[in-house]
Formats: sequence, C-alpha cells, structure tokens
Amino acid sequence: MASIKERTYIMVKPDGVQRGLVGNIIGRFEQRGFKLIALKLVHATPEHLEKHYADLKGKPFFPGLIKYMASGPVVAMVWEGLDAVKTGRAMLGATNPLASAPGTIRGDFALAVGRNICHGSDAVESAEKEIALWFPEGIVQYNHDLAQWIF
Ligand code: TYD
Repeated sequence: MASIKERTYIMVKPDGVQRGLVGNIIGRFEQRGFKLIALKLVHATPEHLEKHYADLKGKPFFPGLIKYMASGPVVAMVWEGLDAVKTGRAMLGATNPLASAPGTIRGDFALAVGRNICHGSDAVESAEKEIALWFPEGIVQYNHDLAQWIF
C-alpha cells in the first residue's frame, strides 16, 4: 500500500537551474500537496554523478550525461507524500521530452533527452539510495500541519 510518508529524490538539472525553472518546479510539487523535506544547491563532481548514475555506466550517452550534469549547479530535493515516487515521475514526464505529455515538466519546458531539466527517482529503493547519496548529512524533520499554518 502506498505510504503518505513515501519519499522521492527530485533534482533540477543544470539546464533547469540556468533557465530559471527552479521556482516553477518547486511550485508544482508544493501545489500538488507534497512536503519539501530537503533542498540544496550543489555543483556535483563527475565522481559523485557517476555514483548517482551507476546503473547507466556503459551506455553510449553516459560520458555526455556526466559532463552535462557536472556543467553547473543542480538543485537537490527530497519530497514526501502519498505515492511520491510514482507521482513525481508522472509530473516529470517521459525521459525523452518529445514523448512527454504537455502539462508535465519536461513536456512544458524541454525538447531534447540530453537537456531534460529534471530527475526523479524511479522506485522507492532507488529513492532511498539517492537520498543517502545526496543528503549524507541527514534530513531535518518538521511538522507539516496545514491546519496550523493556513488557518
Ligand atoms: P534514465 O534513467 O533512463 O531516464 P530518467 O532520467 O527518466 O530516469 O536516463 C537518465 C538520464 O540519461 C536521462 O534523464 C537523460 C539521459 N539520457 C540520454 O542522454 N540519452 C538517452 O538515450 C537516455 C535513455 C537517457
């Protein structure tokens, strides 16, 4: 059963940061009802990115992917909420933006698979690994009680 405490790792890639799309992407996750539990701007090293994309090592696009991802800072985030992994992926759109539905992040902002704006974990287990890789310092806990903050 889906947990309301499910966590996913979402990252705005260097093109998304350079194009000023960070606020829009954060806004979409907030509006959908997810809880932001971690966020930072990081200029990752190729070594760190190779760990993040370890499953893709050997693919022909791997060197270009690492170069692109290391070309500038990314925004690393953890979002929590019901079915966060699957819903996060749906909000991102298909890997190739040409196949992404309008209304998704990639479907609204991107054209090329090598410049597809954002990353989202593809399974709960990969989310756990990615969160540990990007936030080894741990995550701050806080209450998220809309009754308290809105009314
Ligand atoms: P992948 O994990 O397959 O997709 P997703 O990001 O949707 O989980 O691939 C990781 C990234 O690698 C993808 O976001 C963009 C890049 N990539 C390419 O540059 N060319 C390709 O043909 C593929 C499949 C991915």
